Amino acid sequence: MAVHPTDAADAAASPRVARVFPRTARFVDGWLTAIGGVDVADLAARYDTPLYVLDGDELVARMRAFRTAFDGWEVAYASKALCVTGVVQIAAAEGLAVDVASAGELATALRAGVRGQRLIFHGNNKSTAELNLAAQAGVGRIVVDSFDELERLRQVGERRGHVFDVLLRVTPGVDTSTHAFIRTGHDDSKFGFTLSTGMAAEAVEAAMALDGVRVHGLHCHLGSQLLSSEVYERAAGIMTAFLAEISNLQGLQLDELNLGGGFGITYTDEDPVPVVEHAAVLREAVAAGCRRYGLPPLHMTVEPGRSIVGPAGITLYEVGTVKALDGGRIYLSVDGGMSDNLRPALYGARHTFAPAGVPRPGHAQRVDVVGKHCESGDFLGRDVELPVPLEAGDLLAVAATGAYTHTMASNYNRLPRPAMVLVADGRAQLLVRRETVDHVLARDQLLTLEPYTR
Ligand code: LLP
Repeated sequence: MAVHPTDAADAAASPRVARVFPRTARFVDGWLTAIGGVDVADLAARYDTPLYVLDGDELVARMRAFRTAFDGWEVAYASKALCVTGVVQIAAAEGLAVDVASAGELATALRAGVRGQRLIFHGNNKSTAELNLAAQAGVGRIVVDSFDELERLRQVGERRGHVFDVLLRVTPGVDTSTHAFIRTGHDDSKFGFTLSTGMAAEAVEAAMALDGVRVHGLHCHLGSQLLSSEVYERAAGIMTAFLAEISNLQGLQLDELNLGGGFGITYTDEDPVPVVEHAAVLREAVAAGCRRYGLPPLHMTVEPGRSIVGPAGITLYEVGTVKALDGGRIYLSVDGGMSDNLRPALYGARHTFAPAGVPRPGHAQRVDVVGKHCESGDFLGRDVELPVPLEAGDLLAVAATGAYTHTMASNYNRLPRPAMVLVADGRAQLLVRRETVDHVLARDQLLTLEPYTR
C-alpha cells in the first residue's frame, strides 16, 4: 500500500477542517468529495449509510510513525480502539504487537493471524475461561491487574501445567487532566495495584511466590486522549524508581516496562504532542531513570490505540429531518447517532464535520447535529459550522471517528450497526458487514412459556 506524504487536502478546504480529516481526504469548496481515491457519494451509494470509512494510507502511516519513533521499543496496537479483523491484520503486517482485553478481542487477533507470543492480555476482571484461552494461545504477556487474578492464574496454571509470562499493572498515582471516565493512573481506580499504599510491592512479592507465573516487569496506563508528554515523563520516573525498589528490597531484577497508551489526537482544535516528541521525551525519561537507579537496559513497550486508528476513520451519514427553531437553532438529524458514536453523549466529545458528496454553493450555517435516537442526549455535535445549509438526502462526514466508535456501538432503538469499509488507492474493501434488523432480531427467542402466551 502506498503511503502518501501528508498533503491533508486541497486548498479549497478550510485548513481547520481539513487537518482533522485523513490525509487522502479531498475537498472542493468545503465539501468532502473523495477519500482514499474513492468518491464519497459512490461509497454511500454502494455501502449505504451510516458508514465507517477507514483511510488505509493514514492507518499504515500512523503505525509506521510509531514504529519509527519508538524504534527498539515494542509498539502494541490497543485493539479495543478498533477491533476488526482486517485492521488487526494490518497492524500485524506492520510489525505491531497487539493488546487484547477480552476473549473476543483475543479471538479476533488470532483470526487476524497474530501469533500468541505477540499478544498482551489486559483487563481488571479476566475470567478463568479467558485465562484458559490465553494459556492455550500462548499469549506473550498477561498484564495482571489484581490479587484475585493472581489466584486465578495459579489455579489455571496448575491445572494446565502452564507458566504464565506476566507484567504487573501498577497504578502509579499520576493524575491526568482527561475526562474522568478515561483516567486510570490515579490512586482511586479499579485498575491495577496501587503504588502509594504498598499494594504494588505486595503484588510483586505475591507473584514471585507463585509457581504458575513468571514475572517479567511492570505496566502502567495513565488514561486516554492525553495531550502532554509530561505525565508520561512522571510515570517513567515513578516506575523506574519502583523497579529499583523491587531490586533493592526483593532482589528481583525486572527488565520490562510497559507505559501503556493514551496518546491524544485532534478532534477539533487540540494540539497533540507529535509521536516523535513523545518518543524523545519517553526515551530520555526512561534512560534517566535507568542511570539514576542503576537499572539494566529495559525492554520497553507502548500501547497506542486511538492515535493509530482515530484519525484514520471518518463516518458518513445521510441527513434527514432538519428542524429550525425560532431562536435560530437548527437541529440537523442524521441516520445514526449515539448507537454508532457514543463519545459525544458519554464524554461530551467534540468532532469536526464537513458536508460530503457533490459540492453546491451556499452560505455558512450553524447547526446542532443530532442522531435519530429517542433521547435528547443523542447528539454528535453542538454549534457546528457548516459551509452550506444541508438538507435531507445530503451526506455529512464526521472526522476522527476511527477509535472507540465501532467498538462501542450498540443496537439502541434496534438500529442495526453500520458497515465499515477500507479505502486506499482508489479501491474499497468491506471490513465489516452492515447489520440488518434480521441480525438484531435473530437473537430473540419467541416466548412460549405459559401463561404469558395465552
Ligand atoms: N492500554 C491500556 C491498558 C488501556 O486501557 C488503553 C485504553 C490503551 C492502552 C489504549 O489507549 P489509547 O491509546 O487508545 O488512548 N472509550 C474511551 C477510551 C477508553 C480507553 C480505554 N483504555 C474513549 O472513547 O475515549
